[in-house]
Amino acid sequence: MAPHEFDTGLRRAELDPHWPRPIDTPWGTMALFVLEGEVVCVQAFCPHLEGPLFQGSVAHGEVTCPWHGWRFDLRTGRRVDLLRPRSGPDARPLVRCEVTSGAGGTLVLRAPREAAHETHGPRSL
Ligand code: FES
Repeated sequence: MAPHEFDTGLRRAELDPHWPRPIDTPWGTMALFVLEGEVVCVQAFCPHLEGPLFQGSVAHGEVTCPWHGWRFDLRTGRRVDLLRPRSGPDARPLVRCEVTSGAGGTLVLRAPREAAHETHGPRSL
């Protein structure tokens, strides 16, 4: 396994599309969401005040944070509830990991492009 990869040990069939799954990774706690059969991985805790995004409501490929309602596109990580585009901390996208399939059929994550500590990204459970 390459150093920039992390084998979750989970198979796609083990994920419940209705219950996103938090998982500790070398880059902090991430969450696995199933969107129309596709597995996407974003930081598990909200970039606002670290609300549990994996407990948020999911609709149309977007997750709404259960604490204050910030909404993010799960495929791009972009915040989508802003009335007009903004820059700065409020507009920072979620940290994401690319999800691939390992040799044994388990889900393998690739390191996020941005280091988590540089983006106010995932923390550990
Ligand atoms: S902690 Fe997520 S919107 Fe505030």
